[in-house]
Amino acid sequence: FDAVDVIAAKRDGSRLTEPQIDWVIDAYTRGVVADEQMSALAMAVFLNGMDRREIARWTRAMIASGERMDFSSLPRPTADKHSTGGVGDKITLPLAPLVAVFDVAVPQLSGRGLGHTGGTLDKMESIRGWRASLSTEEMMTQLGTGPGAVICAAGAGLAPADKKLYALRDTTGTVESIPLIASSIMSKKIAEGTRSLVLDVKVGSGAFMKTRERAEELARTMVDLGTDAGVDAVALLTDMSAPLGRTVGNALEVREAVEVLAGGGPADVVELTLALAREMLRQAGRPDADPEAALADGRAMDVWRRMVRAQGGDPDAPLPRSAHQDTVAAETSGYVTAMDALGIGVASWRLGAGRARKEDPVQAEAGIELLAVPGDRVSAGQPLLRLHTQTPERFGRAREALAGAISIGPEAPDLPGSVVLGRV
Ligand code: URA
Repeated sequence: FDAVDVIAAKRDGSRLTEPQIDWVIDAYTRGVVADEQMSALAMAVFLNGMDRREIARWTRAMIASGERMDFSSLPRPTADKHSTGGVGDKITLPLAPLVAVFDVAVPQLSGRGLGHTGGTLDKMESIRGWRASLSTEEMMTQLGTGPGAVICAAGAGLAPADKKLYALRDTTGTVESIPLIASSIMSKKIAEGTRSLVLDVKVGSGAFMKTRERAEELARTMVDLGTDAGVDAVALLTDMSAPLGRTVGNALEVREAVEVLAGGGPADVVELTLALAREMLRQAGRPDADPEAALADGRAMDVWRRMVRAQGGDPDAPLPRSAHQDTVAAETSGYVTAMDALGIGVASWRLGAGRARKEDPVQAEAGIELLAVPGDRVSAGQPLLRLHTQTPERFGRAREALAGAISIGPEAPDLPGSVVLGRV
């Protein structure tokens, strides 16, 4: 095969053959196909798409690029969830221990933030002493006989083709492609050996899929890939037009997750945590479990504390707090009609919560607190956002990202009333 022939075929709108797909993914993983060639192919796929059979083969080739894990020896059923990425999405933190309360193993192999979306590992690292890297043996012990929940970094051996390709897409404008996102996520999940999976597919300005139709198509594509690989997969479509909850940023989000585990927290975070937990518990054969009770009576908090300790973290250590704060106030009186997730995500990133390049450090303390949310009535001059950073020279650029992010109108907005918009 020749890389240029494969690129030209997709450029001209042809289907790629199975041998072409197997070859190009394998050759790219080995460095035989160069980054610039894979970038061109990713753009051709972005523009011309792939059909269901091509996506299935592409996913299979990415799985074959690395090792596969196996949870079948665990004494507990496993349940897994994956989010397509959003702003203020700290759901994994309360969800994993909550589901583990019911004697279910919950492996959450998580990533770091890139761009305006946060990463679960960056959030957890604001807990003093906590370690993201575990050996496979440590992970299996934690899942099998330990607390049952684990949040850790995916090993380098899992779908290495995706690791290379994702980094390339991030710098070539080829992230928001349904075939590429679906194969990226599902190759990692299938390689992980999961038997069941709940997908949280985000819709709205802060998500990769901006419309309901596109999100539904992504959800359907991923569920079909799962079904074809013997994974019991279901997807919830959830709102990402505004940030989830009232905090964006690493330590700020951990604080909010702990509030949920303590039986409190913002209604939308609690609603989504419970909706995902119910799906996972049903898949794991625990249809009668009552996750709401486990948040209220402290059992989920108990598992959280054991899970944090098992990875060297101190659940009682105070979370780091920012040295510098600033507020953004309402310009007029009225109802908050929008708090744009993308603008707020970008601002939080610029305050230091995210990274521009994957080797950059993040500030645990940086981020944004929402002092008002859509639907609230506010008066001119009232603070709406509190910005946090360790480096006050960042306030200016963060404020620029917030221009137009908050809308205030004379009438109360017609809000969906639920963060869960649909199910596939
Ligand atoms: N998350 C992934 O793992 N891959 C994508 O392509 C997008 C979101």
